[in-house]
Amino acid sequence: MKNIVLVGFMGTGKTVIARRLAEDTGMTYVSTDDLIETREGRTINSIFREDGEPYFRALEKEVVKEVAVKAGQVIDAGGGVVLDGENVDNLKKGGVVICLWAEPGTIYDRTREYGHRPLLNVDDPKGRIRDILEKRKPFYRKADFHIDTTDLAIDQAVERIKEIVNETERKNG
Ligand code: S3P
Repeated sequence: MKNIVLVGFMGTGKTVIARRLAEDTGMTYVSTDDLIETREGRTINSIFREDGEPYFRALEKEVVKEVAVKAGQVIDAGGGVVLDGENVDNLKKGGVVICLWAEPGTIYDRTREYGHRPLLNVDDPKGRIRDILEKRKPFYRKADFHIDTTDLAIDQAVERIKEIVNETERKNG
């Protein structure tokens, strides 16, 4: 079984949906952020604070390279993974890449209680979300499929992904 890769902005539902998909399908749940934190023995916030975003992106690229060559995983990719074209190419080789999307207001509501995302720990998180989302649109478009989770329940998103995966497998034989 090839990988199911979930990309998309923070707060679009990647983690909860990837975990549910893994449970339902028996595939292995893998999070690039968790792998980075385990490898470094510190949080993403600490990595950004102590060594900066470029250092984090280099780690992320290594982790993506490693997970992309394994099979049978639901990969919960960090929101910025798509910014590097090689990451997207590697992930596409090993599976179907599905981008989750949501409206900025929904993203704000879903992320406001949590402090573990350095890019949103700013004075105006709403404005920041709108800005980054706009800049990243062309990168998220590179995914194979897109699902807007703004008005979807978790179960609905999971079902939609299963349909996509089944259709893709049927087409590819
Ligand atoms: C980031 C998203 C985060 C994490 C890091 C940077 C981003 O992952 O990788 O804080 O650049 O969008 P989630 O999308 O899982 O929150």
